[in-house]
Amino acid sequence: RAHAPVVVAIDGPSGSGKSTVSRAVAARLGLSFLDTGAMYRAMTWWMLANEVDVTDAEAVAIACGKPVIVSGTDTDGPTITVDGVDVSGPIRGPEVTAGVSAVAAVPAVRSRLVELQRGCAAVAERGIVTEGRDMGTVVFPAATVKVFLTASEAARAGRRAAELRAKGVDEATIAAMAADLGRRDAADSSRTTAPLAQAADAVLVDTSELTLEQVIDTVVELVAQRAGHL
Ligand code: DC
Repeated sequence: RAHAPVVVAIDGPSGSGKSTVSRAVAARLGLSFLDTGAMYRAMTWWMLANEVDVTDAEAVAIACGKPVIVSGTDTDGPTITVDGVDVSGPIRGPEVTAGVSAVAAVPAVRSRLVELQRGCAAVAERGIVTEGRDMGTVVFPAATVKVFLTASEAARAGRRAAELRAKGVDEATIAAMAADLGRRDAADSSRTTAPLAQAADAVLVDTSELTLEQVIDTVVELVAQRAGHL
């Protein structure tokens, strides 16, 4: 018998390990993978490239229908393009990171990207793992499984610092980025439209004391409980 496509909705703050976990879970289960933060980053990249003031919500709302944003959902190499240009590198840069919370707070941006996100899920053959801030609360209220990943602030800052150190980033920059992480999480959690929040029916997983493998196993097990056919 045919099963409805599986949607695994994973939300949580930056540094909770969301992206790595979501992609690994998708790969293990043979599902598609969608990083919705990358879409907000791509929108922000386009605004900056076109000299739209990202702190001007009205200007952002007016412009946000223009860029064509396409997300590839293959776990082997998720891609993201804006008007046909691969932006996977630049969207991780400091300018985009500093501006993205303001852009993501604009309702017109959210309704446009939510539509694209639902479109990606609709065409995913076996199902999809989607990660973001409002997957379980707004975008996929009927998701097969909802997970809210958290970690203590110390654990999140420590992981992010280790990542940056491994890339050879200097300590002053690491400290600045840690401060910015706190600012961004506060902004994402306090905005009016679709703030970062745990859905009532989401399973809370605190990753502070867990290894990456343990978190992946936990989520895969949750999916197996609710979608045994996978
Ligand atoms: O996960 P990330 O750091 O790449 O997300 C970038 C920004 O986009 C982050 O500040 C919060 C926002 N975001 C959002 O508002 N809703 C989502 N579903 C995903 C990300």
